[in-house]
Amino acid sequence: MKKSGNTIIITGGGSGIGRLLAQRLHDAGNSVIIASRDTAALAQTAQGYANMHTLPLDQTDPASIDAFAQRIASHFPQANVLINNAGIMRMEGTLASKRDLADAEESVTNNLLGPIRLTNALIDHLVAQPDAALVNVTSGLAFVPLVIAPTYSAIKAGIHNYTVSLRAVLKDKVEVIEIAPPALRTTLTPGQENNERFMPPEVFIDQVMEQMQRDQTPTEVLVEEVDFMRRAEKEDRFEETVAAINPFLAN
Ligand SMILES: NC(=O)c1ccc[n+]([C@@H]2O[C@H](COP(=O)([O-])OP(=O)(O)OC[C@H]3O[C@@H](n4cnc5c(N)ncnc54)[C@H](OP(=O)(O)O)[C@@H]3O)[C@@H](O)[C@H]2O)c1
Repeated sequence: MKKSGNTIIITGGGSGIGRLLAQRLHDAGNSVIIASRDTAALAQTAQGYANMHTLPLDQTDPASIDAFAQRIASHFPQANVLINNAGIMRMEGTLASKRDLADAEESVTNNLLGPIRLTNALIDHLVAQPDAALVNVTSGLAFVPLVIAPTYSAIKAGIHNYTVSLRAVLKDKVEVIEIAPPALRTTLTPGQENNERFMPPEVFIDQVMEQMQRDQTPTEVLVEEVDFMRRAEKEDRFEETVAAINPFLAN
């Protein structure tokens, strides 16, 4: 990805990874457009950042995605990078008995269909831009599932594969990058921001920025804390890694 001078759309810029990434990419010399449902949180992220703009977006709603894409075309025709970062995470229990699938369905609509629909709404625009890039935020759980969040893990694996396909079909048109974070101290799930076993998001973003500022951004932006999951299958230690990250399986 070009190191500076981009106009970057980041979904989920009102908190966590999206907020930090927006601020750091802004300070690296890019214009940034952040988008999510909570416009007050977006305004907080953008406060004091001259080249940061906010737009409302609910990626579960196709009409909201269409309106967003139209605003990008009319107000930010130079936008050349889309970072699909927004998402939710729901713990689902053990699946050992029949249950209400509302959480699973909400996750599919938000985390899977959301980025697919948004990418589709903006793809013609991106393909027409010089130096275009598409960045999908997946997870270490794309490679080794957390068994109490099976739908979330399945979706992240799905977005990983979708990203691989996009990279092939968009070759020489749009650079396609995946960021697969490890567990971080954000507000993604209740209490997570205080979990000291998880990586501080600021430290994670420092390492992400270092990789994004290289002459050639890696196709997969991975930090050491997630690399053992990415390589588990290749190194023939998949089952033991599933057990290692799922404490009650290990016992
Ligand atoms: N934190 C981790 O441990 C971790 C690890 C691996 C991967 N990830 C991934 O990293 C991404 C960011 O997560 P985070 O940790 O930064 O969590 P976060 O602080 O909860 O941020 C999630 C962001 O997504 C936005 N969002 C959720 N649903 C949306 C929707 N329908 N439309 C538009 N925006 C929506 C939220 O804003 P609104 O609610 O205001 O819309 C929020 O700003 C997610 O894709 C997550 O799966 C996180």
